[in-house]
Amino acid sequence: MRLILLGPPGAGKGTQAQRIVEKHGIPQLSTGDMLRAAVSAGTEVGKRAKAVMDAGKLVSDDIVIAIVSERIDAPDCSKGFILDGFPRTLVQADATESMLSAKGLDLSAVIEIKVDDVVLADRVAGRYTCANCGAGYHDTNLKPKVEGVCDKCGSTHFKRRPDDNAETVRTRMSAYYKETAPLLGYYYAKGKLHSVDGMAEIDTVTAEIDAILAGL
Ligand code: AP5
Repeated sequence: MRLILLGPPGAGKGTQAQRIVEKHGIPQLSTGDMLRAAVSAGTEVGKRAKAVMDAGKLVSDDIVIAIVSERIDAPDCSKGFILDGFPRTLVQADATESMLSAKGLDLSAVIEIKVDDVVLADRVAGRYTCANCGAGYHDTNLKPKVEGVCDKCGSTHFKRRPDDNAETVRTRMSAYYKETAPLLGYYYAKGKLHSVDGMAEIDTVTAEIDAILAGL
């Protein structure tokens, strides 16, 4: 199963991707996570990406396409993968088509998580993740069962993203509407687009996605 999750910052792509990973055993390929790892490691790509990401703008197509192209060749992607945050421009969407067709593969589905803009700033501002295993939480919407302790790995260390502030979120939303929203039409025309109501509770969104995946 090869999936793309589409939606604005804070829509719930990462949250739902983690649940698909658990259920279907295919990896989540988050270009945001990959770029943040490159920034932390201080690689050449990380150095080029850092200022762009901190400003909430999009990293250049050539960088992200190269990262994804290499990643989908890894053995753990042989049964499929979830693209989270990629493609994000029409150039990246065309590159995805070419990458997959060169390997004789096809996309199974593109799932759009639809949300009202008004909730996005709060979702992003309240978000934090386990510093050890990356499990995602929210100050009010999704707390760990025991406060301060990760449900998944028991770590007591959490972190927040530097680009999760109100000003950067506005820039990220503009980038989404300008560069990424046109992909909805692109995938609709290919008969691949499915939409779920991302305003619903997290478990309800998961159930909607499960129903789509069951029908593929
Ligand atoms: P990236 O890391 O991809 O960030 P994003 O797209 O802005 O998406 P987010 O991670 O902010 O949101 P999400 O939809 O995953 O929400 P989440 O599930 O965490 O990209 C960061 C940057 O990297 C970009 O700005 C760009 O610079 C660069 N980049 C990355 N990919 C690129 C590319 N392809 N090309 C160019 N540049 C690229 O949920 C948010 C919070 O809400 C969580 O706390 C969660 O608990 C909560 N929540 C989730 N669902 C619900 C719900 N249904 N109800 C209530 N709360 C919910």
